[in-house]
Amino acid sequence: EYKWLYQYPLPIPQTKALNRTIPHPVTGKDINYYEVEIKELKQQVYPDRGPATLVGYDGLAPGPTFQMRRGTEAVVRFINKSKNPNSVHLHGSYSRAPFDGWAEDVTKPGEYKDYYYPNGQNARTLWYHDHAIDITAVNAYYGQAGVYVLHDAEEGALNLPSGNYDVPLVLSSKQYNKGGSLFSPASETTSLYGDVIHVNGQPWPYFKIEPRKYRFRFLDASISRTFQLYFESDKKLGEKQEFNVIASDAGLLSAPQKVKDLYISMAERYEVVMDFSKFKGENVTLRNSRKIAVDIDYLHTDKVMKFVVGKDSVEDNSVLPSSLRSIPYPQGRTTIDHEFLFERKNGGWRINGVSFADTANRTWKLINGGGGWSHPIHIHLVDFKVISRKNGRNAVLPYEAAGMKDVVWLGPNEEVVVEANYAPWDGLYMFHCHNLIHEDHEMMAAFNVTFLAD
Ligand code: C2O
Ligand code: CU
Repeated sequence: EYKWLYQYPLPIPQTKALNRTIPHPVTGKDINYYEVEIKELKQQVYPDRGPATLVGYDGLAPGPTFQMRRGTEAVVRFINKSKNPNSVHLHGSYSRAPFDGWAEDVTKPGEYKDYYYPNGQNARTLWYHDHAIDITAVNAYYGQAGVYVLHDAEEGALNLPSGNYDVPLVLSSKQYNKGGSLFSPASETTSLYGDVIHVNGQPWPYFKIEPRKYRFRFLDASISRTFQLYFESDKKLGEKQEFNVIASDAGLLSAPQKVKDLYISMAERYEVVMDFSKFKGENVTLRNSRKIAVDIDYLHTDKVMKFVVGKDSVEDNSVLPSSLRSIPYPQGRTTIDHEFLFERKNGGWRINGVSFADTANRTWKLINGGGGWSHPIHIHLVDFKVISRKNGRNAVLPYEAAGMKDVVWLGPNEEVVVEANYAPWDGLYMFHCHNLIHEDHEMMAAFNVTFLAD
């Protein structure tokens, strides 16, 4: 049992330094070039046990944060100095198929691969993580995951909290052996929920902040755990505090969505603005609700981290605008083009009864085949609109509707319809459950974007 709650500061992943720029062979424009080494690191998680051996990007877990500007292309060389094969997926990017982290396109230990990233989309929080066939869960869980932020001028002009007040919060949930090493998910076939909640790699950290607005970029990088987050002040226990959701997977929402709870399932990103100005000198805890799907709760899995708010007023010139951007939703089709059933069948994880195999595109109905499982479904390449939810919460949540997504949480028994414009290019892409254990056990399929006529 972990007894050092809120004793260690929140680590802020370092920003990835630019290696150099290289000229684009055709346009001559500068391309940002980076090199990342995938290698081992030791992490002391339990102060009274041995360290855990992880494998991370640049030997960090989470990996360094990429800060990119829309319009500047990037090439990242991922050098595999680990013992496992890897394949890097930039989740949220409309990367060309050869650079999308196709599961079977693995880089073996001792090899490297150069990935080309277009950085042509609107501002958003992406993340890069491993996607290698059959060992994605292991690789991601041991540390191959990091944040990749894409900025653009429109978002910059909004004057949202920025710099030190714009903080990525990467959630993960893991389990450790008695000696302090990580308990591996390698032989799991259903889920590994984990009893230790980490933020940016540190179990239950604290974060000293100022009484002002902060922008938090949440990413659930857990392999199996879904969160329902809320803020609680130590001065008002039992009371959920209001905050605003401002962005989701595909970037800014149309307008801030005021909430007291935020569901976030594996691979989803939600950005929030929390105003701490009314909590001067208080401790505000970020909590997690219990009883989400069949996720297993442990003693402290209802806690995430603590914010220690300064006593003295500070100047805060940042703004929370009442509208953020207009969303380029897809057109609105009235028919269902395809229907997909995600279920556990004969001990295996299947999509429409098949495993990692070929399928196709457009409005998709995603059905959770029951058993109490959560299946956050990720469709590569596209941003989609969440059209409807049935057989569960029966309503698309306002913060799901007010923007576009690339992962949708398919809660127990739910049926969700999503619509996307399968563009801007063709190619073969994956879609799958982002419970990485389900993914590794074949709950993944491919779709081929071919621009066929209706
Ligand atoms: Cu976040 Cu197919 O991945
Ligand atoms: Cu699943």
